[in-house]
Amino acid sequence: KIAEIDSKSALPLTDLFNRQHTYLRISLTEKCNLRCTYCMPEEGVDLTPKENLLTSQEILGLGRIFVENGINKIRLTGGEPTIRKDLIDIVAGLNDLKRIGLKKIGITTNGIALKRKLVPLKEAGLDQINISLDTLDPLKFELMTRRRGHETVLGAMRSAVDLNFDSVKLNVVVINKVNHLEIIDFVNMTKDLPIYIRFIEYMPFDGNRWNTEKFISYQEMLQLIRAVHPNITKELDDPNDTSKAYRVPGFKGKFGFITSMSDNFCGTCNRLRVLADGNMKVCLFGNAEVNLKQLMRDGITSTELVDVISSAVKRKKKQHAGMIELSKMPNRPMILIGG
Ligand code: GTP
Ligand code: 5AD
Ligand code: SF4
Repeated sequence: KIAEIDSKSALPLTDLFNRQHTYLRISLTEKCNLRCTYCMPEEGVDLTPKENLLTSQEILGLGRIFVENGINKIRLTGGEPTIRKDLIDIVAGLNDLKRIGLKKIGITTNGIALKRKLVPLKEAGLDQINISLDTLDPLKFELMTRRRGHETVLGAMRSAVDLNFDSVKLNVVVINKVNHLEIIDFVNMTKDLPIYIRFIEYMPFDGNRWNTEKFISYQEMLQLIRAVHPNITKELDDPNDTSKAYRVPGFKGKFGFITSMSDNFCGTCNRLRVLADGNMKVCLFGNAEVNLKQLMRDGITSTELVDVISSAVKRKKKQHAGMIELSKMPNRPMILIGG
């Protein structure tokens, strides 16, 4: 089957399983203003020295090369991307790439430092905002994030909705016996709020103390929701969505599940990642990385760089391992990947 793919006619970012990569996630920083237990190890992480992080110029240069090679969506992540002082300039610079094929710019943020930046972000060309919020209980928020700020995040989310971004999504990492009973309250929030709330299965990363006790699958979550809302309907998903969408009939918003652990979506994966230190990761899981930043600083030509990226894409595995196996495999802590 592999041999069937004609390497000359395929786009440079097509892998051996015929997956075309059109979506790039760029992590802007390794720092964060929260300390979510499922993302950041308690002892913190070793930060890359500033001089080894991608500059905004390098980010925009890489963005251009990726867009020239078929990327049409770029999502900015972290750490917490709003911490980066040149965030607005980066979005504005990426916005120029819409002339050569980029269609959407998104950000995934914890919402703590978001509100004041919403208007400039919108003006700079940001299309989509995903906000992480795992609980509707301020005390539990402190427990889960090791910081305060619950009301601030809710305020930022409301403002984002009012500003009519292309889409506003809420990401809820669901941890068994911590916040799993809140999913009903979150679903009920979609009655009046035109947002997409996605319940994310808890994934293992280095230092996050994942175990099966803390895991609750999407099938179990769906059962809990059906017990209260038996009439929920399935919505259509976009072909490369990470989530499976549902709606309570008549509600303005929808909810869904990101089922990386119980029902992975690797078959339709269209994502590549560039981390804050300039390493490219072709899969969220697995430690195969290529240091694009170093190659650029060593003076590689654009054509050579595309070859390097394209070869890395060709080494991408068909799918990631099962969750128990993953929990034993080395990876970066989530904070250094950006989701
Ligand atoms: P959209 O661009 O709006 O579709 O968002 P997204 O789901 O791709 O990204 P977001 O940053 O909001 O991440 C939500 C959850 O999806 C996080 O837990 C991510 O780790 C997870 N996720 C994002 N991309 C991938 C992926 O390629 N594979 C897996 N397994 N999970 C992913
Ligand atoms: N499992 C699932 N999702 C996670 N995120 C961070 N850590 C994990 C994990 N261990 C989510 C964040 C954010 C997105 C980028 O990834 O909540 O919404
Ligand atoms: Fe920060 Fe997001 Fe990680 Fe929480 S999940 S520590 S908000 S990067």
